[in-house]
Amino acid sequence: MELSPQPPSSSSTTPPPQEHTDIFSLTDNVLADKLTFIEEIGFGNWGSVWLCRPKADPHSPNADDVTRIQENKIAVKLVHRSKTPTTAARVRSLWNEMKIVREFKSDPHPSIIPFHSFIITPSYAMITMAYLPTLITVEVDESRARKWFRFLLSGVEFLHKRGVVHNDIKPANILLSHKNVPVLVDFGFAERYDAKSSKAFLSNLSYGTPEYLSPERARGLPHDTRKSDVWSLGVTFFEIINGRTPFELYDGEQFATKDDLERYWSRTLRGKWVGTWTMSKPAEQLLRRMLAPNADLRYTASEAMADIYWVQKPSEVSHSECPSQLLSPLTYVSCLRTFNELQLITCLREGPFTSFSYALQKHKGEHRPFEPPRAWISTLPKG
Ligand SMILES: Nc1ncnc2c1ncn2[C@@H]1O[C@H](COP(=O)(O)OP(=O)(O)OP(=O)(O)O)[C@@H](O)[C@H]1O
Ligand SMILES: [Mg+2]
Repeated sequence: MELSPQPPSSSSTTPPPQEHTDIFSLTDNVLADKLTFIEEIGFGNWGSVWLCRPKADPHSPNADDVTRIQENKIAVKLVHRSKTPTTAARVRSLWNEMKIVREFKSDPHPSIIPFHSFIITPSYAMITMAYLPTLITVEVDESRARKWFRFLLSGVEFLHKRGVVHNDIKPANILLSHKNVPVLVDFGFAERYDAKSSKAFLSNLSYGTPEYLSPERARGLPHDTRKSDVWSLGVTFFEIINGRTPFELYDGEQFATKDDLERYWSRTLRGKWVGTWTMSKPAEQLLRRMLAPNADLRYTASEAMADIYWVQKPSEVSHSECPSQLLSPLTYVSCLRTFNELQLITCLREGPFTSFSYALQKHKGEHRPFEPPRAWISTLPKG
């Protein structure tokens, strides 16, 4: 029987059908028999991520669908099913994330996180997936970063061709495999569109992490979400080479108020990279096209894949003081026009900062410690 594509209700105790070998409804005790929770390795607004070890040897006759995993370490992203108003939304978000990454089980890409299973217990809902121990590093040589960029662009092009946008690309959502391949994780904001629909990829929602939001997305204007992914990826590439994002005056600049954010996003609309930075000329040209403030002039992922950067050797180095880095007059006029139009639209919109404050909340996500049920405590490290 096909499992309905509805998220499991937080109060329902009806188990999903077990014929699906990667979606399970278990009791907390049964789960504790199958997985050892080793340590919490990440957390966000919606839950936490744990390093776990399947208890049974995948080759033993006792191994079942939950534990028959080749790796001896896996990552588990889980949300509490406590009785709070946000519980249903959290479980739904995890379920949506699962549906998107699960599609790629039969159609994998080296830069998209491999999904294992979805497990629901009375206390928790969780996604199990491949464990990747290292977060991508920043301030690395361009020669090293270039291979990562190619993988990531190819991964984003792959998603877009399949009607999926990630919506939250940033270094914190990119991990490195043991083969040094960058892998996109956290599909919690991802969306799948019917590529044939006239509304495919269109959105006017503003969410994500402020420093990586394209100008049009930050404003909550109708936009092509694929172009916003390309913007976020461009910001990410810049940060990987330079250690800070192109519109941040210094690393760790704070956006504590909506005025701070407004000032920041005004910079993105002007398209002028601030502070000092260094990269090869071809890299600069590629990033200028990925970070065009006017989305119509911005590269698609496929266009970025076809850029000359990939056939040239990194040669001349660009620095922030070089005048040739300024936008061409045509682009600049077009950006200015867009900026004025956007300001006008922002003034006309009712409550223009609603979406900004949401993004800010997301950015400042607070740590909600994971409390394992009693049955699991014996599986956790002491202390
Ligand atoms: N497969 C994995 N292997 C190892 N670590 C992981 C894995 N998935 C996630 N993490 C770690 O957990 C962190 C949080 O994961 P993720 O981004 O999916 O959760 P989130 O709740 O959506 O977070 P946020 O709200 O901060 O974006 C990641 O930044 C990463 O450090
Ligand atoms: Mg994340």
